[in-house]
Amino acid sequence: MTVLDVRELRTTFQTREGAACAVDGVSFTLERGRVLGLVGESGSGKSVTSLSLMRLLPRGVSVEGQALLNGFDLVTADDADLRRLRGDEIAMIFQDPTTSLNPVYTVGWQVEEMIRLHNEIPRAQVHQRARDMLGAVGIAQPAARLDDYPHQFSGGMRQRVMIAMALANNPSVLIADEPTTALDVTTQAQILVLLRRLRAEFDSAIMLITHDLGVVAEICDDVAVMYGGRIVERAPVDEIFESPRHPYTWGLLDSMPSRATSGRLRSIPGTPPSLTELPGGCRFHPRCPVAMEKCRTDAPALRSAGGGDDGHLDACHLAAEQKRARGQGLASAPAASR
Ligand SMILES: Nc1ncnc2c1ncn2[C@@H]1O[C@H](COP(=O)(O)OP(=O)(O)OP(=O)(O)O)[C@@H](O)[C@H]1O
Ligand code: SF4
Ligand SMILES: [Mg+2]
Repeated sequence: MTVLDVRELRTTFQTREGAACAVDGVSFTLERGRVLGLVGESGSGKSVTSLSLMRLLPRGVSVEGQALLNGFDLVTADDADLRRLRGDEIAMIFQDPTTSLNPVYTVGWQVEEMIRLHNEIPRAQVHQRARDMLGAVGIAQPAARLDDYPHQFSGGMRQRVMIAMALANNPSVLIADEPTTALDVTTQAQILVLLRRLRAEFDSAIMLITHDLGVVAEICDDVAVMYGGRIVERAPVDEIFESPRHPYTWGLLDSMPSRATSGRLRSIPGTPPSLTELPGGCRFHPRCPVAMEKCRTDAPALRSAGGGDDGHLDACHLAAEQKRARGQGLASAPAASR
């Protein structure tokens, strides 16, 4: 079931160099109980997409399009709507758990406050719920830990608290922006296992933003690949790994340690485009190894390569046969493993 339907989202900053469109006509849906991975290089617009949905960007930044959360448009929501929705219907966890908790309040107070804000229930019940949530995210002795302050928790534990707060009111949508990047590898893995478990338990729709395709393979059901403020490929996760169609996705897969087809890690040559001087046509053309003449002038639309309705969309002018041949070549390379 679709809980968030994003249509033609467009976010524009005014900068000294002119208008910078960081998110340019992005459309996708989030489904109950499924995890969508949003991937792409630094600066591709992943965080701006999530901040636009949460309406956490400064006033004066233009956000257009629609983002229907259970039918209610987040783009036109006023402050009162947003106070009601945030933390209740839609919640977000950020990269750095050290800055997201208030150091002067106990962890318990902060989790309880999140519950109190959206529920008129007796104190004892709020306390109980907070304790249950800490338990649910794997914090040992949750009753005792409620009285501790954030500095008494490790980074991984603080991220668990953030997840507990985000899920405290059972939101329809959880957005996690690089939730494991600041953590050590072992803790990262534990948080991913936790998210996967919670997805099943709470049945929220999750959007997981990450640089890491390994993380995508671990936990995501669907993937959207962003480049230069646009989604260039979108598909179920197995399709992305087994028959990727967009040359940018090929580059991302090639730069993944366990998949590098040449046996060594290759980064995608060139740099992401400047938002105030975006190339015409396909935005990837200056870096694309198989660019054609028309790629310089015609912007490819996001659509199914075969024309069918297989849930696999890409924005590239190559012929369907070329996409298939190269994509499958990547998937069957000896170093590829999943
Ligand atoms: N307040 C702002 N004013 C102007 N430009 C901004 C602002 N915030 C972000 N941008 C620009 O928007 C683009 C997209 O940024 P965003 O933070 O969404 O990237 P990202 O995909 O999340 O990257 P990363 O992987 O590094 O987190 C970048 O070019 C960034 O410089
Ligand atoms: S449209 Fe052209 S430049 Fe863009 S990814 Fe496809 S082949 Fe490359
Ligand atoms: Mg980001």
